[in-house]
Amino acid sequence: MLEHLSDHPSARPPERFAGPDNPMRQLTRAVADGGAWTAANADSVAELFDGMAEDWSATHVDPVKRAPVDDALDRGDVPLAGSWLELGAGTGAGARVLSGRVGSLITTDLSFEMLSHAPGDLAPRVQADAAALPFPAESFDAILLINMLLFPGEVDRVLRGHGVVLWVNTMGDQTPIHLPADDVLVALPGSWHGRTAQAGTGFWLTARRH
Ligand SMILES: C[S@@+](CC[C@H](N)C(=O)[O-])C[C@H]1O[C@@H](n2cnc3c(N)ncnc32)[C@H](O)[C@@H]1O
Repeated sequence: MLEHLSDHPSARPPERFAGPDNPMRQLTRAVADGGAWTAANADSVAELFDGMAEDWSATHVDPVKRAPVDDALDRGDVPLAGSWLELGAGTGAGARVLSGRVGSLITTDLSFEMLSHAPGDLAPRVQADAAALPFPAESFDAILLINMLLFPGEVDRVLRGHGVVLWVNTMGDQTPIHLPADDVLVALPGSWHGRTAQAGTGFWLTARRH
């Protein structure tokens, strides 16, 4: 079941950017459906984002990124006091919103350069592949993914039983790494329900197990 909240006052349509044929969109769909994630995939994605890191740190930490995350923290029924993990944290867009508002936060990313351009004082930065996370089972109360590939098995493994997945696409269906909210609920192992809303040019989903 997916509960749709009213649009946040900031909600507006995204500009056209990445359609269904975008290669990153296809990779997003493939890994969410349990497709193979190879060492070659990891190398090429890390190389891609390593190369964009400097520019990303200047252009991708802005109110567009912030709006859906802020709204999800306000209306998504998330465990603010709990321990949070951010996957694909990049140059710190999410950490800038979460830091000081959640109990604890660890940020992770495949790209060393992306993490290097994130502020070092907001949260620990761990270089790790989200397809094989270096954390024990049931380590976190909440997991944030902003425009990040969904590896359903690992998210399910490291999330506690009552935990929440916060999925954010900051350019809605024009985000290269995009899955609709319903598809995220289906991709996660077992039975999940969610709450979603539009904010800024994007949307957020909070998902929990039944
Ligand atoms: C579109 S960027 C988003 C970065 C950040 N969340 C933001 O919104 O600015 C996607 C990020 O996911 C990271 N990423 C992609 N595949 C990953 C994987 N398998 N494990 C960890 N991080 C990954 C990339 O290195 C990149 O930093």
